[in-house]
Amino acid sequence: SRMDSISNEKQNLIIVSNRLPLSVKRVDGSFQSSLSSGGLVTSLAGLTKSTQFQWFGWPGLEVRDLGDREEVSQTLEAHNAIPIFLDSTLAHEHYNGFSNRILWPILHYQSGVTFDDTPWQAYKRVNELFADAIVDSAESGTLIWIHDYHLMLLPELLRHRLTQQGKSCAIGFSLHTPFPAGDFWRNLPVRKHLIEGLLSSDLIGFHTDEYKQNFIETCASLLNARTEIPNQIQYKNRLVCTNKFIVGIDPQKFTDTLQMPEVQDRIRTLKERYKGVKVIVGVDRLDHIKGLTQKLSGFDAFLDDHPELQNKVVLIQVAVPSREDVKEYQDLERDLCTMAGKINGKHGTPLLYMHRSVPFAELTALYSVADVCLLTSTRDGMNLVAFEYVACQKERHGVLVLSEFAGASSFMSQGSISFHPANKTEMSEAIFDAISLDPAQRKSKYEYLRDFVNENTRWDSICDGKLSATNTRSAKWGQDFT
Ligand code: ADP
Ligand code: G6P
Repeated sequence: SRMDSISNEKQNLIIVSNRLPLSVKRVDGSFQSSLSSGGLVTSLAGLTKSTQFQWFGWPGLEVRDLGDREEVSQTLEAHNAIPIFLDSTLAHEHYNGFSNRILWPILHYQSGVTFDDTPWQAYKRVNELFADAIVDSAESGTLIWIHDYHLMLLPELLRHRLTQQGKSCAIGFSLHTPFPAGDFWRNLPVRKHLIEGLLSSDLIGFHTDEYKQNFIETCASLLNARTEIPNQIQYKNRLVCTNKFIVGIDPQKFTDTLQMPEVQDRIRTLKERYKGVKVIVGVDRLDHIKGLTQKLSGFDAFLDDHPELQNKVVLIQVAVPSREDVKEYQDLERDLCTMAGKINGKHGTPLLYMHRSVPFAELTALYSVADVCLLTSTRDGMNLVAFEYVACQKERHGVLVLSEFAGASSFMSQGSISFHPANKTEMSEAIFDAISLDPAQRKSKYEYLRDFVNENTRWDSICDGKLSATNTRSAKWGQDFT
């Protein structure tokens, strides 16, 4: 029947990312898994509701023993996740060495990055190992959807292997970071390999038009690819489509959680604790690109500018531990700790700085009691925390203060207060404006953002569009994807 063929077809999707939706840890000799954090996992979570797929990725730790590998695979199987095991040195060089110390900073316009060949070789090797692991699970007609900067060579490596095996599959690639303007991308000596790697995809998705355009211009200038037709790139007899996809969240997950009795209890406690105090919340992975030092300086400037607000404002900042084996992240953590101490020493204790992960229920309670959400990214692919805050503000109509450099800002600036994160004065004024808005202004901003968040939860329809077109030509598939 038609329904059967649809559900069979839905099995024909393979998702690939470096990080699986669950991270595995070794605890007292056995294995435990917990939900991974980060925008990629959040944005794909909604998809699991209606679509079946296999999700390939690195389990996050080294597992050598075959029996242990079996155990880890079984733990993950319940979530359709399939681990690709990597030796720890190789994983370290790929993940920390190349992906996070070289590629991530360049994608986010950070200067001073030094290229090194050892991590680059590991990056290539890991992309090959991923291709080897995936090619056997794919059949002709399977849609393979690859995510993010850790796997930019994978489309080409996989295409090659699929062709060798006589399989015809559509390959999609989604980048969850910015793509920088051409001149900045030149900082990366191996840039050509990465772009060519991507161009074996049928469709490449970006978060904003700006990132997409930067990519297309790079293809034209670096590879002499033909780009006269909007959104299409012709290179070496291949036609590659590009598009912008607004990756959203599943807002219902937040509204449902807010209804839970223990979350309601927690909200009551927090409201009691912060009676008469304006609560500003920030939730970020502890990462340079989130502009956390800028946030603390801006908050410090705001407190200097408004002594009358002493004891009347609190900033609750959750800094989720991230990439802790990378030196730059360790240095940042130390700097933030020092800054937090200074601010609290100087102004009473207006800052609650938490360097830890908080449970989901606590996160939603925090979002819900906050009058303001302050996000200060110096560059950021999208920033889904902005969406999540809005999803939790049905009653309060809190104000989003959002850096103009977050991808989300290109869609949400009308409903938020935007500012330049390098300008302390501007940040201080933006915070003051946010806490001073009258209820009518707050309501109208909130309604704009609410509609935007509710209207952009469409991974499901994107996926249906793709799946119905898996057997058609790639260019057609690209159009259907929208
Ligand atoms: P990034 O992808 O750079 O981390 P985003 O703002 O797009 O930035 O996404 C961060 C995601 O991580 C959000 O969905 C947020 O809810 C989630 N998150 C934050 N803290 C935790 C946590 N303790 N556990 C799991 N997920 C978390
Ligand atoms: C960003 C990246 C994701 C990544 C996430 C968390 O959102 O785009 O690919 O998974 O950060 O980072 P981590 O290094 O823990 O995977």
